[in-house]
Amino acid sequence: MDLGLADARVIVTGGASNIGRGIVHGFAREGARIVLADRDADQAATVRAEALDLGAAAVEVLVVDLTTDGAGGRVVGTAVDAWGGVDVLVNNAGWSVPGFLTEQTDRALWQRTIETNLYTAIDCTQAALGPMGEAGDGAIVFISSDAAFGAIRQGVYGTTKAGLIALARTTAREQGRRGVRSNVVCPGLVLPDDGGVGAESLWAGGRDAVFDEDQIASVLKQQALRRLTTPADVADAVVWLSSRRAARQVTGQVVAVGGGSSMP
Ligand SMILES: NC(=O)c1ccc[n+]([C@@H]2O[C@H](COP(=O)([O-])OP(=O)(O)OC[C@H]3O[C@@H](n4cnc5c(N)ncnc54)[C@H](O)[C@@H]3O)[C@@H](O)[C@H]2O)c1
Repeated sequence: MDLGLADARVIVTGGASNIGRGIVHGFAREGARIVLADRDADQAATVRAEALDLGAAAVEVLVVDLTTDGAGGRVVGTAVDAWGGVDVLVNNAGWSVPGFLTEQTDRALWQRTIETNLYTAIDCTQAALGPMGEAGDGAIVFISSDAAFGAIRQGVYGTTKAGLIALARTTAREQGRRGVRSNVVCPGLVLPDDGGVGAESLWAGGRDAVFDEDQIASVLKQQALRRLTTPADVADAVVWLSSRRAARQVTGQVVAVGGGSSMP
């Protein structure tokens, strides 16, 4: 099916590593024009080249710390200045450190988790709604997580990911009349591909520093399909939800892409 995303103006936050990189690749294969907003300049440049090879019509890299004041306006402004508007926003940038709630008492960790996962999405969404509303069309996809429904060692992080669902659904209800759709994808555990992460990735210290083999085995046991989720699996769902042709009447929905680990 032609998803109608050729030349679509797409923003992917945190597009340089792992899942975001997979999402950039997914839109590139559709021939979209992409703003890749990330703080990791080197890895963003690598993924830009990959996306152009895969068929992206254009890729603009914006190196930015998305938690800083005004970042959302800069991100959306990059698409508007280059191409006159924005059709799709994927709020993917995120950060987490697994840990039991009783042990994660460091307020700086709460703050970084909340700012990276929630503030960035609020900021970019508010900025995108202006041009999307004026155009009477647009799609926003929020990358939440299975952890939004409660998961061991994901308390602070899962709280922010649950917040994204409220943000997405509020956006869907408030903005539907302006033609804007807003949906959520909740990935299961997605381990990075070789070469798929840069120095700013939460996986930069190696997989085991985030999830060791026993923890991965335990995650797999909870999944109906008993296989790990890939960045491309997540990208397929994001690209579908972003397509007006394929998902015209889909808004406010939560789609879990984790082999059946959660079933929201
Ligand atoms: N990997 C998983 O198992 C998994 C599962 C469920 C949900 N998620 C979510 O998917 C998203 C991507 O996860 P990932 O595994 O690809 O992470 P990652 O750390 O590999 O990639 C995140 C990217 O976002 C960028 N980024 C982070 N904070 C930023 C900031 N303040 N400003 C600019 N760029 C910033 C990083 O530089 C990096 O390129 C996150 O929202 C994460 O919570 C991941």
